[in-house]
Amino acid sequence: MYEYELKKYANDIFESDNFKSTKEYIQHGNMSVQEHCINVAKASLYIRDRLKIKCNTRDLIRGALLHDYFLYDWHKSDKVNSHRLHGFFHPARALYNARKEYHLSPRQQDIIIKHMWPLTVIPPMCREAWIVTTADKYCSLLETFYIQKGRIHHHRAKGKYAYMRVSDHGVA
Ligand SMILES: [Fe+2]
Ligand SMILES: [Fe+2]
Repeated sequence: MYEYELKKYANDIFESDNFKSTKEYIQHGNMSVQEHCINVAKASLYIRDRLKIKCNTRDLIRGALLHDYFLYDWHKSDKVNSHRLHGFFHPARALYNARKEYHLSPRQQDIIIKHMWPLTVIPPMCREAWIVTTADKYCSLLETFYIQKGRIHHHRAKGKYAYMRVSDHGVA
């Protein structure tokens, strides 16, 4: 569902190496960041349709796909950052990374920087950002409790994550 719209408006994002790399990072449960972002984009379109909200579909999809474009494993500390305050700081990092690769409309920027509201105090300024912040919370809840399962499984012996090649999105 919604694959056609996702490809129509964001095929360049799906083709980018950085976006492809996000399937190596865990978001919640056994869900990769890439799967999570696709889930959020689809859930955003579903909310748009169910509530019949008029909005800019291109901005909605691209903002949703890039909302967690922080490009690191937030479960692990690295030399630069412990990522303990990931929840507060990753929207700014995602915006910084996305800006380097894409021209972002004001709506797309609002989606990315406000998606953690109310953790990031200033509320969304457009309906597209309200939709994505709602979809993100809904998907995160389902993923955290493994109600919606991802494709990453943990190799206990090797101590690392491996990606299961079972395609259920059809877009990435
Ligand atoms: Fe996020
Ligand atoms: Fe998210």
